[in-house]
Amino acid sequence: MVFIAPAQPQDAPAIAAVHVAAWRAAYAGIVPQVVLDSLSEVQRTAQWRRILAAEAGWTLVARDGGRGGPVVGFVQGGALRDGDAGPGDGEVGGLYLRPDRRGRGLGRALMAAAVKRLAADGMARLFVWVLADNRPARAFYAHLGGVPDRTQHDTIGGKRLREVRYRWDGLPRL
Ligand SMILES: CC(C)(COP(=O)(O)OP(=O)(O)OC[C@H]1O[C@@H](n2cnc3c(N)ncnc32)[C@H](O)[C@@H]1OP(=O)(O)O)[C@@H](O)C(=O)NCCC(=O)NCCS
Repeated sequence: MVFIAPAQPQDAPAIAAVHVAAWRAAYAGIVPQVVLDSLSEVQRTAQWRRILAAEAGWTLVARDGGRGGPVVGFVQGGALRDGDAGPGDGEVGGLYLRPDRRGRGLGRALMAAAVKRLAADGMARLFVWVLADNRPARAFYAHLGGVPDRTQHDTIGGKRLREVRYRWDGLPRL
């Protein structure tokens, strides 16, 4: 059984560990290897402490086995931060699972929990940015009903990477 609930400040190290492991597994061959090799759980923990303490946005964690179980995935979201955002535009800014937990329904469960939270906050549309070369994640978002609506470029470790934004007009029923 997986238990999904808002992250607590003390979850920062566990979220950082999932974040680093998921990046290394999902972005090998996409993000420069030197960047993946230099990821640090200690640095990520510090970042997550700041994110969890911030007023803006929210983070939900999935725990194995119930309320006190280990964190195996997380989703972070809030209001869309893009320049073209309108009222009611919500965003999932990050969705990451421990690599051994992929492909078993956990991503869908975290997206469903995120959509519930967005609905409670009065959001009416959903947006997600994804690296264009992250084909499995793009197929996942397309499978859940997202449509590509914009692209932009970001530079990570000196490599220019294309990102695609997926859009749902109306929050999806997951
Ligand atoms: C992308 C990710 C969150 C998806 O979560 P997941 O648990 O593997 O996906 P699920 O098992 O919940 O799949 C949900 C549905 O999407 C479908 N799906 C998942 N991946 C798919 C793919 N690559 N192609 C087509 N369909 C896919 C599943 O078949 C399933 O369909 P169903 O529920 O209708 O039967 C997860 O694989 C992950 O953490 N990837 C690495 C990190 C990452 O890329 N995050 C996104 C960054 S923006």
